[in-house]
Amino acid sequence: MKKVLVIHGPNLNMLGKREPEIYGNMTLDEINISLKAQGEKSGLRVETFQSNHEGTIVEKIQEAFETLVNGIIINPAAFTHTSVAIRDALLLLNVPIIEIHLSNIYQRETFRHKSMVADIATAQISGFGVTGYHLALQGLMDLIRQ
Ligand code: DQA
Repeated sequence: MKKVLVIHGPNLNMLGKREPEIYGNMTLDEINISLKAQGEKSGLRVETFQSNHEGTIVEKIQEAFETLVNGIIINPAAFTHTSVAIRDALLLLNVPIIEIHLSNIYQRETFRHKSMVADIATAQISGFGVTGYHLALQGLMDLIRQ
């Protein structure tokens, strides 16, 4: 069975409570459950992971490399704009990487316009809210099947 890892960065564990006018009302658990269900329908195993710690995310990406995941969806959250370490870890992988943001990072403060991941990601989705995760998974499934 093909497997996909969805990584959520810092503060995304607070979805539902955190700035709902920007990030919506769904909780992370609800998002994860619906992604797993979407994957299951297509015979894909979806693992989800959240951490507020940069090094823990780096280690999870290294584990994804060792365990041969078939693709990654990552919302690095604030680390998007700062983390060379997460970028370097992603460079280990030779599977599709989809970068996703709930908000449109290019319509927000200028410090959010720079992504350390965008140029090494296979694709980026930004501004679709939770729907973006489902688009990311659909796109990733198509890429994996190709
Ligand atoms: C975010 C955008 C980031 O700038 C921010 O730090 C986040 C969430 C998004 O999903 O829109 O935590 O990645």
